Amino acid sequence: MKELPDWYYDEFIQKGTDYTSEEEIQNYDRKMRTIRNIAEEAETMIKLIDLRPDHNVLEIGCGTGEFSIELSRYCKQVLALDISQGMLEFAREKSITRGRDNIDFTKAGFLTFEPKGKEFDAVVTQLVLHHLPDFWKLIALRNVNSMLKPGGKFYLKDVVFSSDTRDFDFYFSQVFQKMPPEAGDEIINEMKLHIKEEFSTFDWVMEGLIEKAGFRIEQSQYQNGFMATYLCIKK
Ligand SMILES: C[S@@+](CC[C@H](N)C(=O)[O-])C[C@H]1O[C@@H](n2cnc3c(N)ncnc32)[C@H](O)[C@@H]1O
Repeated sequence: MKELPDWYYDEFIQKGTDYTSEEEIQNYDRKMRTIRNIAEEAETMIKLIDLRPDHNVLEIGCGTGEFSIELSRYCKQVLALDISQGMLEFAREKSITRGRDNIDFTKAGFLTFEPKGKEFDAVVTQLVLHHLPDFWKLIALRNVNSMLKPGGKFYLKDVVFSSDTRDFDFYFSQVFQKMPPEAGDEIINEMKLHIKEEFSTFDWVMEGLIEKAGFRIEQSQYQNGFMATYLCIKK
């Protein structure tokens, strides 16, 4: 891991949901299944980055490993990072159960990973970047840029708020009301914690950050006023 100056942001401190908690780790996949279609998300990611058998891919914030495992079926090697040791252990066990042997799991994050000269064909990250305040998002995105081969692809999916929303009180009350009943209070409470304590930013800020970090945005998609997906190319 990189040695950082003492004024650096400590990305290992959990803000909002605590992804080092054993309860969170054990329940994460069950909760996600109530609001997400993981197989579909993985397929979209794999298609967008045009994953090939000779590719080396980096996933930042792999959580329980679902996406690293899917990616590993179609490429040479996946390096999966997370700042939560518990998540990494859970993901590693899952990858063994699913017969994957081309994934390395490493404890590090956007700010602390040291690539040691290694360059990747693609970097993917989803629902992770919002853990950093905006200043640190730019540092993180520049780090990602420096780890990619020229023309390398960066897939970023995260909670990004729409600057067209005028009345956030009304907007969020609607979002909570429209949650599928099987999601239950625990997901709504996590969303509230997200808005209150985590660092999701606005669409125009995110686009600016991505461009300032040295990427061209090839495709962007915004859903429901709070979810964004970007396919970015290293310039
Ligand atoms: C909401 S989960 C997302 C997991 C997975 N990517 C997914 O799409 O389901 C966020 C994950 O990011 C990790 N994380 C938080 N901050 C991070 C950072 N600065 N660098 C890398 N991982 C981080 C957390 O430990 C957690 O496992």
